[in-house]
Amino acid sequence: MAQLWGGRFTKETDQLVYNFNASISFDKKLYRQDIEGSIAHVKMLGRQGILTSEEALEMSAELKKILSEVESGSLKISDEYEDIHSFVEAVLIGRLGDTGKKLHTGRSRNDQVALDMRMYTRMEAAHTDGLLKELLETILTIMKAHTETIMPGFTHLQKAQPITLAHHMGAYFEMFRRDRLRMRDLYERMNYCPLGSGALAGTTYPLDRAYTAGLLGFYGPTLNSMDGVSDRDYILEYLSALSTIMMHLSRFSEEIIIWNSNEYQFVEIDDGYSTGSSIMPQKKNPDIAELVRGKAGRVYGALVSLLTTMKGIPLAYNKDMQEDKELTFDAIDTAKGCLALFNGMLATIRFHKERMRSSAALGFTNATDAADYLVNHGVPFRDAHGIIGQIVLYCIDKGISIDEMSLDELHAVSPVFKEDIYEAVSMEICVNKRLTVGAPAKEAMESVITAYEQYLAESKFPESDWEEKLVGDDR
Ligand code: ARG
Repeated sequence: MAQLWGGRFTKETDQLVYNFNASISFDKKLYRQDIEGSIAHVKMLGRQGILTSEEALEMSAELKKILSEVESGSLKISDEYEDIHSFVEAVLIGRLGDTGKKLHTGRSRNDQVALDMRMYTRMEAAHTDGLLKELLETILTIMKAHTETIMPGFTHLQKAQPITLAHHMGAYFEMFRRDRLRMRDLYERMNYCPLGSGALAGTTYPLDRAYTAGLLGFYGPTLNSMDGVSDRDYILEYLSALSTIMMHLSRFSEEIIIWNSNEYQFVEIDDGYSTGSSIMPQKKNPDIAELVRGKAGRVYGALVSLLTTMKGIPLAYNKDMQEDKELTFDAIDTAKGCLALFNGMLATIRFHKERMRSSAALGFTNATDAADYLVNHGVPFRDAHGIIGQIVLYCIDKGISIDEMSLDELHAVSPVFKEDIYEAVSMEICVNKRLTVGAPAKEAMESVITAYEQYLAESKFPESDWEEKLVGDDR
């Protein structure tokens, strides 16, 4: 048991209590953010004359050494400390004696942990954005190759109208593009620095909060110290955005599972992303897609869990907030892992173009177009709808598609049909007449693809160079 606060206690903490309270087993993940925050704090204390400049230099140099030793593995983060903050401070005191004891001047673990979590979440939002961008690149590659790959579009999981694979993929491009926008948007609100909020009411030392905020790459300091230490909205926003990403990945996975099924055979998942059965030799299962679909629940769980934890907490810091960490770390690792795995699976998947095309052709996906043909020849739409309904029934009975009916058979239902009906209901014409913005016609898709290419070339996460800037430079 190694803790920072024994002074006013007359009894040793019970081991079980200590264990229950301690967070080092999981908050050690924050070592980098914790040390970087301390370096900025120390530099500011020196600049403000709260520490001498020699003390500040000595401490920041030693903190950098501690960071590189932790990173190289030569300094192990020991679980006998209560949390990562206590560990770093204890190591510094062990090395610098009385100077090290000045590290925590004008600071509380409350603003320290609030800072660490913001820096960690900010970094992970940038990483999430990068993974989303890679996935968008894969989707765009598929779109470019498949503007003429016809497949059925579904509603109610029933074949509805013909579309192309590029068009179907484009729907997911839109979803993940919005997910990237959410990352950028939540970053704009999260990127303010709580350091200097103290325990809850600021400090009596003349801290320069704008300076530390700038050193750490924040837009500026948070403007209320009570909120600074107890705000976890930025984590909730991030978990909510991750939940939406998981919902998108889960829908996409569900489609791939269906498309990969024996009945559909629209796609074949690469062997590298499939698994076998221990008993049934013929099986090749879409486990990765199923796991991604399954893990969505876990990420939603983190969001609901933290919302529930936060709802009854009076201002300002309360220990309940320590519960933000494990679930956030797990949700981030889960969502990032799913994005990377899903991307790999999608990039290697094989599309069975012929199966997709014949499924569209045999599924009466051109029935709307056949009705539109009659409308263009003067039949009121409601009557046209009825006529094509009869034709569909006839075809089902015979086991054929509309274009396989002879002109005589068509005339038996309506005299309006002419030879040009066959062209009007061909899959290519049905798709390529759908020219409105966002529709599947090749021409319409191509202008969307050009816009997506431009978007991917230009879009950049804001300020994501703070990661390299932090410890390395000597401002
Ligand atoms: N481990 C704590 C947390 O994660 C750090 C803050 C501790 N502050 C306190 N007053 N006990 O929230």
